[in-house]
Amino acid sequence: MSRPVARVFVLTGAGISAESGLGTFRDPGGLWRRFDPMRLATPEAFAREPEEVHAFYNLRRQGVREAAPNAAHAALARLEVGLAARGGGLFLCTQNVDDLHERAGSRSVVHMHGELMRVRCTACGAAAPWAEDLGLDTACPACGRRGGMRPDVVWFGEVPLHLDAIGDALAAADLFVAIGTSGAVYPAAGFVAQARAAGIPTREINLAPSDTAGLFDEATYGPATRAVPDFVAELLDEDLPG
Ligand code: APR
Repeated sequence: MSRPVARVFVLTGAGISAESGLGTFRDPGGLWRRFDPMRLATPEAFAREPEEVHAFYNLRRQGVREAAPNAAHAALARLEVGLAARGGGLFLCTQNVDDLHERAGSRSVVHMHGELMRVRCTACGAAAPWAEDLGLDTACPACGRRGGMRPDVVWFGEVPLHLDAIGDALAAADLFVAIGTSGAVYPAAGFVAQARAAGIPTREINLAPSDTAGLFDEATYGPATRAVPDFVAELLDEDLPG
């Protein structure tokens, strides 16, 4: 890398949580290979079948609660501390709705597709932590309306979150890294082209080349639990894990 790396923008996708036992979406056996997203992950689906949608997300929450963060999540938590210690910073943007980055110790995580462990009122927009006993007639803690609490995730056809902060962080980065994402869904899949246009070095860390692999300056292919700790050790000049 031509210039000292102090500000790193990392985009993560489902692949970083795969070795924690959470399925990805488009790999063989992936979530969208087993379930129809148009029936479970759109505002229209929720309006049509709220109980089915709630049941689907409760199933996913169960999987997340049984999962543990892996070495890749832990490495990014170390990277956040290491970059801050040298006066830089990590902007960790995830497409994932699980909380494994936070449970691994990451302090600042931007969930551009929302968070599975939160719900949101369709009447007033207030968000609240998901609770076991949440049901269709649960009242919104903010406005009191019953029957309108939905998963606080971004569905197909909805606008991803925090795009202004993401754009600012991307423009200010010294390095853009994509980890565990297929590059199939925009706007996240377009971040690498934005980084390139700004002259920012780009790196892909993935099990296999993504749909946007050709746009990256560098790439490491292999399981995230091996490739991400190696990448972080290299960036922080640490001894490579044995
Ligand atoms: N280590 C690293 N990468 C992995 C691993 C692993 N152990 N296992 C799988 N991968 C890679 C796959 O090669 C694939 O490129 O993770 C990627 C997963 O791709 P997708 O299933 O498409 O998931 P993602 O890119 O996160 O999807 C983006 O699509 O449906 C929406 O909202 C959903 O956030 C999601 C978005």
